[in-house]
This record gives sequence, structure tokens and C-alpha cells, in this order.
Amino acid sequence: MRNVTTRFAERGDLQRLLAIEAAALPSTRYLAEVEEEFYDPDRGELIVAEIDGIVAGFAHYSIQYDNAAWIETLRVDPPLQKKGAGAAIWDRIMEKCREMNPPAVRMYTNIGNDGSIKLAYRNGLGICLNTHEYELKLQNVPAPFKHDFQPVAYKDAARVLAPYKDGYHGYYFTNRTFYEMNDALYKALAEDGKIWAKDDAVVVVGSRYRHESALHVGMLCGNADHCIDFAVAEGLRQSVPKIVCMIPSDRQELADVLRARGFTLNGNDIIMMERIL
Ligand SMILES: CC(C)(COP(=O)(O)OP(=O)(O)OC[C@H]1O[C@@H](n2cnc3c(N)ncnc32)[C@H](O)[C@@H]1OP(=O)(O)O)[C@@H](O)C(=O)NCCC(=O)NCCS
Repeated sequence: MRNVTTRFAERGDLQRLLAIEAAALPSTRYLAEVEEEFYDPDRGELIVAEIDGIVAGFAHYSIQYDNAAWIETLRVDPPLQKKGAGAAIWDRIMEKCREMNPPAVRMYTNIGNDGSIKLAYRNGLGICLNTHEYELKLQNVPAPFKHDFQPVAYKDAARVLAPYKDGYHGYYFTNRTFYEMNDALYKALAEDGKIWAKDDAVVVVGSRYRHESALHVGMLCGNADHCIDFAVAEGLRQSVPKIVCMIPSDRQELADVLRARGFTLNGNDIIMMERIL
């Protein structure tokens, strides 16, 4: 009988966790770049699973602005998969939810990831949103004319974004992280200077981390062409190589504008799963 246990990650686990990520998802190098955030106890918990004393896998529980739980980077070493490590990590996630009392627990995965979806279903999460991710490489893209967007202060954020909330199904999502659109989010976005508006458009730009790898555009509202002009200008100003933008998969009119401006589909299988607690 295997003994599967979970605990907090320690600094000394890092090399093993990096090796697990490299083996479990060879095309992804994520943990190394978010290590500081993941080890910060004020921002969540890095959970490690052991099978018979061997570190087998990990996941991170993040605390969002409204205290919602965001689960990410669930990875189990391939030779140790299907032995209960993923299930044990989810047991710890749900225990942590009982301790922290978040309004909801959410995660993203790919529509074909059967193991990930099975574990989420088992813990009461359901598929909530299907999205498409587009990107535009900025090399050789000319700088647009001067834009007249202005930053939006917190006091105006809810009013400015409200007309566009339904078009995003009530969620703000960027960089494959999903948030409920609510006052706590608006405050954080406004204080970070991420919301910009003009007479006929509102755009939300800025990354959660890994700022140098891309400019992430969270929302394109109203005149999408003008929003893209702003994003291009901002991306060039920040010297990032590309702009990445996620939209709900039912927003074909927005997808058409993105394609017309040279964006290409980067992923059409990203889903958000959620349990309201
Ligand atoms: C998804 C993942 C974390 C599952 O971890 P795991 O330790 O293998 O999960 P468990 O052993 O606890 O399995 C839980 C259940 O899911 C099933 N399962 C696990 N992987 C599966 C797969 N690839 N396909 C179908 N079912 C799967 C198990 O059989 C088990 O079901 P059972 O209890 O009915 O037998 C692991 O496969 C992994 O690291 N994958 C690569 C990274 C990844 O995709 N992470 C998720 C990103 S969102």
C-alpha cells in the first residue's frame, strides 16, 4: 500500500520540482519564473505531494484580490502519475479552502487534459468558460499614431467596465489567469494603472508577472481597433516581443478584428473550471 502525503514546499525542494515540471510538461518552464511568488506564504501555498517519501508532484494555491482560490501548475512526475499524488494535492487544496473560506476555487486547463479535468470534477468544479488565445508578434509592426486613451481611476473603473462585463461572461482573464469581475479586482487593476479609456473604447493591459515576455491584454472593449492601437503602442514602448490576448470563444466579432490586425490563434482549447463555495 502506497503512502501518499502532502506538505508545504521547502526551498530545498526547488530543483526536484523544476525537474518534475520539465518531465511532466516538456514545453513549459513556468515555476522557475514565478518561484518568488509561489514561495511567498502571503500569496498562497506551494503544495508538494510525496509518495513513500519521494517528492512526486506539486501545485500552487494563489489567493486572488477577492480571496478567491486560484489553482495552478499542478504537475506530477510521469513515472509517479496515476498513483494518487494529484488526488492528494486536491485534498489539500480543498482543506485549504475550508481554512481560508474563499468565495470560489478556479483553475484553467486544456479541454483534452483528461486527468486534470477528472480531478477538478471530483472536487466539484465544472467547466465555466471556453476561451481562445491570440498573439501578435511586434517585430516589424509599425507604431500607431499617438493615442488618446487616459488611465482610469478606481472610482470610475466599475462604471467604465460595466457595459462590457457580460461580453466577458463576468470574468477578467489574462495570462491564463481568471478573476471574477468585482470591486476588489477593479481596485487592483486601477491601482496598477492597467485600465485605459477614451470616448469609445476601454482596454485593460498588463501582465501578472513575466512582464518582459509579452504584453497581456485582458479586455478590449468598444472600438477594438483603437484598443489594439493602444496595445501595440504600449507593447512597443515596453519593448516586449509580442502581445497576447485571450477572449471568450463565442466572441467571433472580436476574433475577426484581431485576425484582421494580424493576430494569430495561439490556443483554442483553454478552459476555466470553477466551483462557487
Ligand atoms: C494531471 C495530473 C496532475 C494528474 O496527476 P496524477 O497524480 O496522475 O493523478 P491521480 O493519480 O491522483 O489520478 C486521479 C484520477 O485521475 C485519473 N487520471 C490521471 N491521469 C489521467 C489521464 N491522463 N487520463 C485519464 N485519467 C487520468 C486517475 O486514473 C485517477 O482516476 P481513478 O481514481 O478513477 O483511477 C498529471 O497527469 C500531470 O502532471 N500531468 C501533466 C501536467 C498537467 O497536465 N497538469 C495539469 C495542468 S492544468
